[in-house]
Amino acid sequence: MCGIVGYFGNKNGAEVVVDGLKRLEYRGYDSWGLAAVGEGKLIKHKQVGKIGGFDLKRDLPKFGGEICIGHTRWATHGGVTETNSHPHFSCDKKIAVVHNGIVENYQELRSDLEKKGHKFVSQTDTEVIAHLIEQTLKITKDKTEAVRQSLKKLQGSYALGIIFEDEKLMIGARKGSPLVLGVGKDQTILGSDVPAFLKYTNKVVFLEEFEMVAISDQIKGGYEIKNVNSGKTVKPKITTIKWDATEAEKGGHPHFMIKEMLEQPQVIEKTIGMGKGELDKAAKMIEKAKRVYVVACGTALHAGMYGSYLLAKINKIMVQPISAGELHHFAPLFKKGDLVICVSQSGETADVLEAVKSAHSAGAKVLALVNVMGSSLMRAADFSLLTKAGPEICVLSTKAYVSQMAMFVMISGALSGKISNAKKVLGIAKKDIEKILSKKSLEKIKKMSKSLAKAQNIYALGRGINYPNALEACLKIKEVSYIHAEGFAGGDLKHGPIALIEKGVPVIIFASDDESEAEIISNAMEVKARGADVIGINYRNNEVFEQYLPIEKNGFYSPIASIVYPQLMAYYIALEKKFDPDKPRNLAKSVTVK
Ligand code: G6P
Repeated sequence: MCGIVGYFGNKNGAEVVVDGLKRLEYRGYDSWGLAAVGEGKLIKHKQVGKIGGFDLKRDLPKFGGEICIGHTRWATHGGVTETNSHPHFSCDKKIAVVHNGIVENYQELRSDLEKKGHKFVSQTDTEVIAHLIEQTLKITKDKTEAVRQSLKKLQGSYALGIIFEDEKLMIGARKGSPLVLGVGKDQTILGSDVPAFLKYTNKVVFLEEFEMVAISDQIKGGYEIKNVNSGKTVKPKITTIKWDATEAEKGGHPHFMIKEMLEQPQVIEKTIGMGKGELDKAAKMIEKAKRVYVVACGTALHAGMYGSYLLAKINKIMVQPISAGELHHFAPLFKKGDLVICVSQSGETADVLEAVKSAHSAGAKVLALVNVMGSSLMRAADFSLLTKAGPEICVLSTKAYVSQMAMFVMISGALSGKISNAKKVLGIAKKDIEKILSKKSLEKIKKMSKSLAKAQNIYALGRGINYPNALEACLKIKEVSYIHAEGFAGGDLKHGPIALIEKGVPVIIFASDDESEAEIISNAMEVKARGADVIGINYRNNEVFEQYLPIEKNGFYSPIASIVYPQLMAYYIALEKKFDPDKPRNLAKSVTVK
């Protein structure tokens, strides 16, 4: 996964790169490193652990240079050591490379280069790139051309930042991993995503597959983009990003997680403000389709499941949810006339992008619900609706989930020709979330979470429209508190899960004013009779609830507000257990490898 940043300009590049890496830590935080060209020398710094508390001025005051690359790592090839952390270097230490992706043929390339005398110091796949460029430079003196020739030999995926000791040049390239170019006045910045440099510029160029960029004072306009395969120059398409730079800052909050949860009412407000035209276009695609699937991973899959219940109940349309990681078992059955709705916050999840390929090769269409503008998913889909979460930095997805659910509500409204009703119910959800996020309510959840933090297991139950929330609640809790948590459909309780219920185990019940209220309350009674501590989320209290968390009456739209309670629980449990909620162990926000 990993995150990369590169700076070319007139500032101290290392400061910009360290700042950018801190924003990219959601992509990996095993170790990090920098390389800069300062006064004609290539200097480096590598460190195991998170970059979070690092302060360049304090910890490395002499480190600097106007050209700098940096990397925050999520290890795939080679253990978490200083040596394996990026940047990696050529034998003569004059070429430095940072890389996100996997070089699949690195063993073959490495043994070939070793035969030619190259000495490797790490166990990574990345190091091979630095040596390959060094080797190619023996034949081709032009550095950009040597990089291009080297890239043609790589199999697998890459987003790269490359700098040289003996030339004021920075090269970036992408294939299968995201890379964005920020173009500002007197500075050009490379980043794995936009928030990495949004503070410095909102003018960006999203590099396409097999594109590379050479950044140099010698090039008119400061940079030139080429196609790796053909070597032909590509005209850059500059996009202005509408996100506000402060949205990607903590803004005085201790963690991105709480900040992003608190932003959920605004996310709904922005969704309500969407244009009818784009919603109608998406609705038409659904109406026209012979069969409709929703494909996504993790939290986005849960939002897709919510969408499938909603479209079934309100619009009488059958939408089959499939986990993107499992899709290849079903993809051969896609046909022309099918529609695949891909839901993704990042728009870079490898399995989701694979789903797009499968759909297209079968002649099916793809509708994307995606948060990141210019992402690979957005570019590959036939049509995209941009969800309104704004930059989501915390590894745990909270506001993106709510934005995706809200988007399905708007789509459902467009399908039934009642967008005004969709806006109305979203308005109720927004007010409800505001109440859940009030000071008094936060205190209540915090207090509850103290005892939840002692639990060994936590379960959640929901039926119908509330079932995806049972899954999502437990995903949040396990991701950040490391407590075993599992969500079940109420109807499945007697088919196994009830055996797990014992005295004192917390069970969260998602109920609402829909047809399954009575049934889920019966489930609550069944688990209570076996000793469970029932935490009930509903529009009305019930004697079966040990603890009651209120929501408004909002029918099939209640889950949009009710998920906020377990999101908050997950956060406060993590704090109680002294875990960093923004950086849960082993996880990365964007899974760009399979
Ligand atoms: C990872 C993240 C989840 C996220 C999922 C899908 O598993 O940890 O938070 O929901 O990927 O990511 P996407 O960017 O496609 O929504």
